[in-house]
Amino acid sequence: MRIAVVGSGYVGLVAGACLADLGHDVILVDNDQSKVTELRNGHVPIHEKFLPELLTRHRGQRLIFSDDLKQAVGLSAAIFVAVGTPPTESGEADLSYVESVAREISGGISDYKVVIEKSTVPVYTSDWVRKIILRSGTDPQSFDVVSNPEFLREGTAVTDFLFPDRIVIGCDSLRSAEVLREIYAPLTDGSYYRRSDAIPQPDRASIPPPIIVTSAKSAELIKHASNAFLALKISFINAVASVCESVGANVNQVVHGIGTDTRIGPKFMNPGIGYGGSCFPKDVMAFRAVARECGYDFRLLDEVMRINEDQRQRFLRKVRSALWTLRGKKLGVLGLAFKGGTDDIRESPAIFLVQALVQEGCKITAYDPAAMGRAQEVIGSSVCYAKSPYEAARDADALLILTEWEEFSNLDLDRIRGELKYPIVIDGRNLYDPEEMAAEGFSYYSVGRAASYPDGVPTTILRNSKKA
Ligand code: UGA
Repeated sequence: MRIAVVGSGYVGLVAGACLADLGHDVILVDNDQSKVTELRNGHVPIHEKFLPELLTRHRGQRLIFSDDLKQAVGLSAAIFVAVGTPPTESGEADLSYVESVAREISGGISDYKVVIEKSTVPVYTSDWVRKIILRSGTDPQSFDVVSNPEFLREGTAVTDFLFPDRIVIGCDSLRSAEVLREIYAPLTDGSYYRRSDAIPQPDRASIPPPIIVTSAKSAELIKHASNAFLALKISFINAVASVCESVGANVNQVVHGIGTDTRIGPKFMNPGIGYGGSCFPKDVMAFRAVARECGYDFRLLDEVMRINEDQRQRFLRKVRSALWTLRGKKLGVLGLAFKGGTDDIRESPAIFLVQALVQEGCKITAYDPAAMGRAQEVIGSSVCYAKSPYEAARDADALLILTEWEEFSNLDLDRIRGELKYPIVIDGRNLYDPEEMAAEGFSYYSVGRAASYPDGVPTTILRNSKKA
């Protein structure tokens, strides 16, 4: 099928590349001419596993780039809208990009088209998109609007697209549902998974994925409610971690105990410095605003957000209590991205903490495997950048772990201890076992677990240090 994907951001680019891999002819449209030129020239703008391979495989063949939306609509049977929906001051989603794309799409509709919302949008957006397209005199029979939310996680977006837990199709006509079924047929009939060049299957993928057909409004709510529920799970376990800290319990043991109940499950129960990224903070706020607008006061979501903010402050207090005064302290920081496996720093709790610590007078040397370039655009030269975790630790008063990169859980601890001025590790992602860290000679602070010390004695900056 010939498909247009509007917006070459995270979702659009991944969706476009994956739809091409399913065998469709995709026109990826962006109104930013320089982005289109870069994509045509082979530039891969985001750090995403398997994306470079797919772009190389299909660029210029089944995947072409254009800035001509009207022409792309005219040539395509289905148009995915994947433009940004940033938050406004009041927390609502700003739908002006969606609206202007809808208006432009209407100019290109000649025969039957399916317009598919891929961006995360509030309930009722599909109604609005339909109204906007009708306003320009488009024949009501010549198009349908469908909500087909994405559940891609940054870092595993390609795999999430091709091996989804489910495919949600929110449509109000049988005709449009058939078009969506045809688009995803290589996944639902399993033919994609039999191909020798298919992207490798992740663990526990449900193959073939089920299709869930709902009304457009339900699909829009499924997306917001999914993200809000996942954020709630994280805030819930962070709140439990705070209670664990008060009573001297171990949050890992608690997670194991509750997560083995199949009704609850162990996933998304890693306590830490709170959730960040371009989705959860924005979507929880937007869902809160949508609910208010529709007459429901969803205060539970306020609490989810409050706990998330509080988690960062608690971590700052932890750093203060481990190091006492902060002015002039030299800190090594591991991780700037909002989570492991991505170079994205939007709403990154790591960036927030680095800025707060710099504000308090700390001297920071940071390392991140992928996000240092982007971080530099925001925090500039207020911190130094290291080439490795070991360089970040060099001569530091303490090492802070702020992003759950896999490589940070396999550090050469002897080497880290040798680099640090004082053997203090403050882990905002619980990547290590407290007892093992104490046995390795570290004073180790983490989230929801008691601090552990070598020989039971906390390292202070004035004594007990091998280099002091
Ligand atoms: C999230 C959802 O997981 C996707 O399903 C959704 O499609 C996407 O938003 C979106 O709406 O586009 P993403 O933002 O890429 O994906 O990242 P997650 O892996 O969900 O992590 C979000 C944040 O929660 C990160 O800061 C991460 O460190 C934190 N987190 C995650 C925890 O603190 N604990 C956990 O157990 C899991």
